[in-house]
Amino acid sequence: MSDIKPPMEPFRIKAVEPLHATTRRERETLLAQAGLNPFGLPAEKVTIDLLTDSGTSAMSDNQWAGIMTGDESYAGARNFYNLQESVRSIFGFSHVIPTHQGRAAERVLFGSILKKGDSVPSNTHFDTTRANIEVLGARAEDLVGAAGHDPDADEPFKGDMDVARLKKFIERRGRERVPLVMMTITNNSGGGQPVSLKNIKETSEACGHFGIPFFLDACRFAENAWFIKKREKGYAKKSVLEIAQEMFSYADGATMSGKKDALVNIGGFVTLDDDALAERIKNNLIISEGFTTYGGLAGRDLEAMARGLKEVLDEDYLEHRTAQVAYLGGLLDRAGVPVLKPFGGHAVYILADRFLPHIPRGRYPGWALTVALYREYGIRAVEIGGVMFGRKKGKGGAEAFPALELVRLAIPRRVYTASHLGYVAEALIDLHKNRDKVRGLRIVRESPFLRHFTAQLEEV
Ligand code: F0G
Repeated sequence: MSDIKPPMEPFRIKAVEPLHATTRRERETLLAQAGLNPFGLPAEKVTIDLLTDSGTSAMSDNQWAGIMTGDESYAGARNFYNLQESVRSIFGFSHVIPTHQGRAAERVLFGSILKKGDSVPSNTHFDTTRANIEVLGARAEDLVGAAGHDPDADEPFKGDMDVARLKKFIERRGRERVPLVMMTITNNSGGGQPVSLKNIKETSEACGHFGIPFFLDACRFAENAWFIKKREKGYAKKSVLEIAQEMFSYADGATMSGKKDALVNIGGFVTLDDDALAERIKNNLIISEGFTTYGGLAGRDLEAMARGLKEVLDEDYLEHRTAQVAYLGGLLDRAGVPVLKPFGGHAVYILADRFLPHIPRGRYPGWALTVALYREYGIRAVEIGGVMFGRKKGKGGAEAFPALELVRLAIPRRVYTASHLGYVAEALIDLHKNRDKVRGLRIVRESPFLRHFTAQLEEV
C-alpha cells in the first residue's frame, strides 16, 4: 500500500478561530429541527464545514492590511483602480465592472445581451448561471465531452467542451439565436474538472467562425491554470500567470466570483473589451448593484479582491491547494470509498449511489450520506444529486435523476490543515464500514425552484 503523505501547509497561522465540538445527541436534535437539511444547521454547530469553497477562504495578513486602506468614497475609490490594475494584468480586458458576487456578474451580463428564446451553450453551466439564463426565457445548454459524464474515466481534462457538438448546435439553432458561448473553468458541476488550453483555443476558434462572443466563467481560473501547467504538454515551464493570460487571450470576456479564486469572502466582477456591451452592463449595474466603480462592494472589499487575485497565482499555494484535495481523495480511495477521479481542484466528490448501494435513487442516497456524516461526525457536506437536480415529469409523474449522484466535500481555501482532512477521511471510512445502517429518505416539503436549499425530509 503506497504511503499517502499529508501535504505541508505553505503558511503559518496568525489568527485562529475555535472549532466547536457537539455531542451526537445535540446533532440529532439539530438535524430534526432542520428537517434533515444540512443547509438549515447553525454553522457554529458544524465541526468541519465542507459545504462550499465559496466565500469561505481565510484571507492573508496582506489582504487584512488592505482592508484598512479601504477608500469608502462613493465614486472612484482608489481600491477600484487597484482592482482594475489586478484584473487587467491577469485577464487582459479593458473594462472591469465590480459586482457583489458571481451571480450578480452573470445577471448584469445576461441581462444586457440575451433575448427570450436565445440559447447559451457551455461545457456545464453552474446552477446560478443556468438560472440567470432561464429567468430571461433563454435556454442553457450543457455540451461537456463524454468523459465529463464518466466518473471512472481517468482523463486529465474532463471539463473540456465537445467542440464538434458545439458547432452542430450553433448551426442547428442559428447563429442569431446564440448571443454568446460560456465555458466554466474548472467545471464545478462536473466534479471540479479542468479544461485544457487546447480546448479553450478550439472553442474560441469555433465561436470566432460564427462571430459569437466567448466568455469564461472564471471562478476557479487559477486552479484551472495550475492543472494545465501540470497536465498539458508544453506548459510545464510556463508560469501560472502566463497560462492564465493565455487562457483569457482566447476569450472576449469573463464573469468572476471572487469568492473562489480571488480568496475573498465577498466580491465578483465582469470584465470584457466590447465598449458597447460594457456600456449596457454598466447601466444595468447602476440600477441594482451600485455605481460602476464599486458594484455593491465596499472599498475595502475591492482591495481584498485586488490583492487576492495576485496571491492566488502563487505556485506554492496552488501546489498545496490541489495536494490537499488529492490527499483527502487518496485516503478515501485507498480505503475503498467510491470517489470521482481524477481528483479536481476544489473538492472531493463521493459517488453516493455506490457508497450506499442499498438505497435506491428515489430515496436520495447522496442526501442520506450528508445527513449521516453530520449526525455521526459533525461534518457538513453538500449533495449534488437527486434532491438538487431531480425533476418530476408532470404532476404525480416519476422523478428523473441526474446521471451522477454525488456528495461534494468542498475544501475552503487556506482554512483547514492536513489533520482536519485526516479526521474527515477517518469519518468517511468509518461510515463506509457501517453503511448498512444508513437509511433512505423521503421529501416531505419542497419549493418549486432550487428545492435543496429549503427541502424538509424524513427517514424511511
Ligand atoms: N459559477 C460557478 C462555476 C460557481 O461555482 C459559482 C458558485 C458561481 C458561478 C456563482 O458565484 O456564488 O459568487 O454568486 N458556486 C458556489 C459553490 C456557490 O458552492 O460551488 P457566486
